[in-house]
Amino acid sequence: MLFSGLDQLPPDVILGIAQAYRADSSPLKIDLGIGIYKDDQGLSPVLPSVKAAEKWLIDHQASKSYLSSAGSPEFNTKIAELLFGSDYEAEYDGRIRSVQTPGGSGALRLVADFLRTNSPTSKIWLPNPSWATHQPIFAAGGLTIQRYPYYDLPSGRLLFDEMIGALRAAQPNDVVVLHGCCHNPTGEDLEPSHWSIIADLLRHKGATPLIDLAYQGFGDGLNEDAYSIRLFAKQLPELFVASSCSKNFSLYRDRVGALTTIAQSRAASITLQEHIAKAIRANYSMPPDHGASVVAHILGHPELRILWEHELEAMRTRIAAMRVLFARELTKYSNRDYSSIARQKGMFSMLNLTPDAISCLKEEHHIFMISTGRINVAGLTRENVSRVASSIAAIQPHTAI
Ligand SMILES: Cc1ncc(COP(=O)(O)O)c(C=O)c1O
Repeated sequence: MLFSGLDQLPPDVILGIAQAYRADSSPLKIDLGIGIYKDDQGLSPVLPSVKAAEKWLIDHQASKSYLSSAGSPEFNTKIAELLFGSDYEAEYDGRIRSVQTPGGSGALRLVADFLRTNSPTSKIWLPNPSWATHQPIFAAGGLTIQRYPYYDLPSGRLLFDEMIGALRAAQPNDVVVLHGCCHNPTGEDLEPSHWSIIADLLRHKGATPLIDLAYQGFGDGLNEDAYSIRLFAKQLPELFVASSCSKNFSLYRDRVGALTTIAQSRAASITLQEHIAKAIRANYSMPPDHGASVVAHILGHPELRILWEHELEAMRTRIAAMRVLFARELTKYSNRDYSSIARQKGMFSMLNLTPDAISCLKEEHHIFMISTGRINVAGLTRENVSRVASSIAAIQPHTAI
């Protein structure tokens, strides 16, 4: 029988934490596990800009007939502008094309499908560590995965020299995945000088970068967080960008993202898009419309766009403030240097805790985090940050440092 002979799978790490959190009846419980932005009340509300755009859509959307496999043309133009600036067509000589995808995950899977069909011997290079879902997405695409060193947890240090050393083994047509900003899970980002060295190396090797930009606007700002893609598009012949509107528009469940490609010439870009369209048709036919139409409306409406940029800025500055506060409280309670947490960007950082310590935080202190030690800094609030820091300090004999 097809269904009864299946092996039982190990529980999903992140969903397992979410379930354990829900099952804990303590009023003191704190969720630092699941990767969503939360405000200082611990909530993840629909943004007012999104609500306004949804109202507008209900009143004005005239048809729900099929779109093309590339999704909404307005969305695709607005996303390319967000990534590369409003003058992107002229500035990059027509080499840039975006297609709407079901979230950033859909864009990544599309790259995997495209490579399996057109370049099955391309290896995928992932940072160690990386977002836990990168590996299964590219493995499901049937591709060989290699790891390059990225971050040393005990010292809280970026392993840039080691990363470059490993990437020297990249072959022509290999694809190197880089987090454009707000590295998940470490929060440790690359500096402009690093990006230039990587661009030189990839050009020399003939390898293609895939920049995963899931947090544009959560690091230093909308333009600042696009630094690497604008540099690479100028300096390299080819580039993939998988971007997401899940976090910066708080549209997680509406599945809004884009795959943007930069080819060597306008003509190559048009042919590439035909292959991308073919991969989409064989996969999910076309992306869901609602969230993308909301984003397109906000980005095309001057007042809503200003409102959204303020909302995004509020999320970014709250996370940065929590980082500073958390690092200060941790240092106060433990007498150790936690300045790396204040320096890092985006929602995630990693704590160097043993599995025992992580389970003790859960069982005795009602503080939930993923078993790798990744914490969602946005789960901290002015009310709970001190308790989280003092609880971590209290179990420090358990830490692996
Ligand atoms: C690094 C990274 N890439 C891609 C994604 C995919 O986001 P989504 O598919 O929800 O748009 C995430 C989500 O957490 C992420 O952290």
